[in-house]
Amino acid sequence: MPTAKKIFVANWKENKNFSQGVLDFKQLLDLLDPSRVQNNQVVICPPSPFLPVFREILSGRPQRDFVRLGCQDVSQFEEGSFTGEVSVRLLRDLAHYAIIGHSERRQFLGESEEAVCRKTDLCFRFDIVPLVCFSRVDQLRSLVPVAVRRFLVAFEPLAAIGSGRAESPEVVRDILGSVKGIFGEKADFLYGGSVGRSNVRSYLEVQGVAGVLVGGASLASADFSQIVSQS
Ligand code: PGA
Repeated sequence: MPTAKKIFVANWKENKNFSQGVLDFKQLLDLLDPSRVQNNQVVICPPSPFLPVFREILSGRPQRDFVRLGCQDVSQFEEGSFTGEVSVRLLRDLAHYAIIGHSERRQFLGESEEAVCRKTDLCFRFDIVPLVCFSRVDQLRSLVPVAVRRFLVAFEPLAAIGSGRAESPEVVRDILGSVKGIFGEKADFLYGGSVGRSNVRSYLEVQGVAGVLVGGASLASADFSQIVSQS
């Protein structure tokens, strides 16, 4: 059974209305028993409008010691006339982590590698820990000059996302080796793509895997809390 501290990231994507999201977050906190979970890190990445409310809810709970909030994106611009964008200057007060370069943004929203680099750089400068997603190792190479501090990467093969066809732990081990070859210990490695209760342990058992990024199975509090308690 894996023992080192693990990180469990919930990516809610563009789901839930406001009242449902607040209810689900409170329910999740109730389900995360500090005596069982406190040696791990749980990161909830809801749509950004939830962040100030969740921060408030979390501040009064013992789970604040091991639950952190994350955003699903940041603006590639520091501040200014960029309608619709949310800056790192604002998000730094609301989120510890930021998902950067998710394949859905690369695929549907035209996110370029250059934008991913700019966003990662801004996160470092504004003390947000970037969690950079990739499906091919070569997508990470342009980050080498930018990656000045410790950060997270998540290997998310396109075919595994939301499909129920998770990648095999053997392939994950190989990719992890390539990533460590590029960044050494500077990058903590997560796996994402159809992670659920029944397979999470097989990834956490791969030597060097720091945690998992969970989409669909993070939407129901009961499912996600069970994933977290598999560690
Ligand atoms: P999934 O999504 O767990 O639903 O496959 C993972 C992700 O896209 O981050």
